[in-house]
Amino acid sequence: MTPMNEVTTINREQRAYSDAAKKFLARKPQLFINNEWVDSSHGATLDVEDPSSGKIVGQVVDASDRDVDRAVAAARAAFDDGRWSGLAPMAREKIMHRLADLLEAATDDFAELEAIDNGKPKGMAGAVDVPGAVSQIRFMAGWASKINGEVIQPYTIPDGAFFSYTRKEPVGVCAQIVPWNFPLLMACLKIAPALAAGCTIVLKPAEQTSLTALRLADLIAEAGFPAGVVNIITGNGHTAGDRMVKHPDVDKIAFTGSTEIGKLINRNATATMKHVTLELGGKSPVVIMPDVDIAVAAPGAAGAIFFNSGQVCIAGSRLFAHRSIFDQVIEGVAEASAFWTPRASLDPEAHAGPLVSKEQFDRVLGYIEAGKRDGASVAVGGGAAEAPGGGYYVNPTVLVDVNPQMSVVREEIFGPVVVAQRFDDLDEVAKAANDTCFGLGAGIWTKDVGTMHKLASKIKSGTVWGNCHAVIDTALPFGGYKESGIGREQGRQGIEAYLETKSVIIQL
Ligand code: NAI
Ligand code: MG
Repeated sequence: MTPMNEVTTINREQRAYSDAAKKFLARKPQLFINNEWVDSSHGATLDVEDPSSGKIVGQVVDASDRDVDRAVAAARAAFDDGRWSGLAPMAREKIMHRLADLLEAATDDFAELEAIDNGKPKGMAGAVDVPGAVSQIRFMAGWASKINGEVIQPYTIPDGAFFSYTRKEPVGVCAQIVPWNFPLLMACLKIAPALAAGCTIVLKPAEQTSLTALRLADLIAEAGFPAGVVNIITGNGHTAGDRMVKHPDVDKIAFTGSTEIGKLINRNATATMKHVTLELGGKSPVVIMPDVDIAVAAPGAAGAIFFNSGQVCIAGSRLFAHRSIFDQVIEGVAEASAFWTPRASLDPEAHAGPLVSKEQFDRVLGYIEAGKRDGASVAVGGGAAEAPGGGYYVNPTVLVDVNPQMSVVREEIFGPVVVAQRFDDLDEVAKAANDTCFGLGAGIWTKDVGTMHKLASKIKSGTVWGNCHAVIDTALPFGGYKESGIGREQGRQGIEAYLETKSVIIQL
């Protein structure tokens, strides 16, 4: 197989921004604390870069320790006086629905800002990220009124002598730290259950992608949340993020990001025994059995890795195709990869954009080079896409002739790079799929119901998809086995993660 070259030259010049986006980018860098826009205690800022052009298009605050302390103090006060948790559940639910409605109405604005900041196509952001964020808030809003303890009959005490029950109470002040791959969606996935539970929040978006979280702050003020319930600060992870994690007035940390930082956060959280929810890295397998319709499964496998330019924690980055169909599957994935050729994020024809930053661009290209050095062959792609005007474009890449020792097979690349391997039988592929420190997602493609369920039970991962990939629904718990994380988000478990359980035992 020869590497497929670009058939046509694509103009990767970024398109003009709307007036609304220009106006937003021209705002003075500030933080959102106590429902107000406030200046930082120092003048430090972070650049906002458009990865489609590599140009600096704005600035946000790089929060100081004092800024973090101020935001935490606001959240602490708002939690301790019960101005949010003390509201009727219906009132909390109503305000959350108002936020969801405001967000939905502003879909186009948010999609554009996400495209500018992250590099993902505006069309994708408008179809996936913003509706996903809205559904997180709507689903969790309903839980505000469905949080109940239970009356429990003691085991060692005769009936009638005691009355005992459990209460579900909000865990308190939550520090929520989110990554850059789905900035708005991750922010809403984090704040929604905390709000429904009655917690208060300090949210920090990733330093690469702060825009939509800041825009969300406008809507939070407008929706009618009491002051201090949601505070949004921007800044670096190792400074502002670290301060949030170590702050004694924070009760819970929710983090999505790298496994490396997740482990560090988990260690740092123990000093004051904070609750933690961690959603970390992945190296998700996609298993294609010989009975599939290759015309469906191959594009499915391509979408599993190339969507969002592979910057997805559940990206199907290890492809296992049965030996009897391996070559046809690779051909099909190679063909389908054309659909995912990267373009500028505001190009209406884009299905994939550049990588988020120069750092990720170098990192992903470094992995591809390491793979080649280790003996992998490039079936398609294999490097950067041409962009004379700048930007961090990497072509969809399929590596074959790989073995389980290679770094491209073992480590999370977080780019549009899939490694493909052959297998002969079910036990062998289950073992190979589990030969990883991660366990976030897995895709299985087969028409055989028995095979589907057998593999679904054998693969150690928080989610298994059958004949699809990366279908995320807010009603279903999401999280990782092994080093992919601790705890679950979404669903009933998502709200439970923001609740304490108190037992009350009363002698009558
Ligand atoms: P990262 O884990 O360093 O950053 C994620 C978030 O953590 C950001 O908001 C950052 O400000 C914050 N952070 C960083 N250091 C911190 C600290 N010491 N204390 C508190 N917060 C901190 O991820 P990074 O460096 O942007 O990406 C590196 C790799 O991580 C990627 O190549 C990818 O493999 C993985 N990653 C995984 C994600 C996922 O969804 N599971 C998302 C982003 C990155
Ligand atoms: Mg980092």
